[in-house]
Amino acid sequence: MSTNTPTTADATVDDGEPLLQLQDVTAGYGNTTVIHDVDVAVEEGEIACLIGPNGSGKSTLMKSIYGFADVFSGDVRFRNEFITGRSPQDNLRAGMSYVLQDASVFPGMTVHENMLMGGFVFEDEDRANERAEELYDEFPLLGDIRDQRAGSLSGGQRRLLELARALVVEPDVMMLDEPSIGLEPRYIDQVFDRIQQLNDLGTTILLVEQNAEKGLSVADRGFVLASGEIKFTGTGTELLNDEEVGRLYLGG
Ligand SMILES: Nc1ncnc2c1ncn2[C@@H]1O[C@H](COP(=O)(O)OP(=O)(O)O)[C@@H](O)[C@H]1O
Ligand SMILES: [Mg+2]
Repeated sequence: MSTNTPTTADATVDDGEPLLQLQDVTAGYGNTTVIHDVDVAVEEGEIACLIGPNGSGKSTLMKSIYGFADVFSGDVRFRNEFITGRSPQDNLRAGMSYVLQDASVFPGMTVHENMLMGGFVFEDEDRANERAEELYDEFPLLGDIRDQRAGSLSGGQRRLLELARALVVEPDVMMLDEPSIGLEPRYIDQVFDRIQQLNDLGTTILLVEQNAEKGLSVADRGFVLASGEIKFTGTGTELLNDEEVGRLYLGG
């Protein structure tokens, strides 16, 4: 629970503060604490990657940013505005997009209907249609299957739909939890190329990746989470070259 008074942020002011910041965040579910006193800062325009063993709390950290987990103490800020405990819907509206680890498409709906769901926070109904069309230009593979039921898609196609659906709102920051998990190797490279491309176009990315080497190799900044605590922080390259990180977390 936050005791902070919300402040108004002016997106046009570059005050040198991180775009997304967790300060001293302790969070979990109900009366279970999963992450402890976590500090994470993501600068505008960068790719940040969170790695760590299974069960270390990576998904919970992401959920604590977005209002899917309970923040017991500490603060979450976006554009220097306190957003601790803000609802997922309000976060989406504010330009934050999140593809959950167990993201799912609506199997009974077509690809296009799924895309429209990505824009459910728009007040203007045509906007989601327009954005879907723009995204089909960007992802022709998706445009080709726009009338197919999402339940009939391959794993790679489904992941592409999940990513594209999260882009309907034109997010300033995109949070991706294990976007490459379960994909065949040829799709994994495509997913990472997409992430890089999105970032080149200005989207800030916070990524959780179980393929730690791959994740850190595209990241400007990396964080290692273990037992719910941040153990190491550095540039992607620093973490990749760190002897201890390598031994403990990169299987080196
Ligand atoms: N909804 C939940 N309620 C209670 N405990 C949970 C819930 N989700 C995850 N946990 C617990 O939180 C811990 C961290 O899980 P998670 O954040 O999913 O780790 P990671 O993403 O690093 O694998 C695990 O012990 C898990 O059992
Ligand atoms: Mg997880």
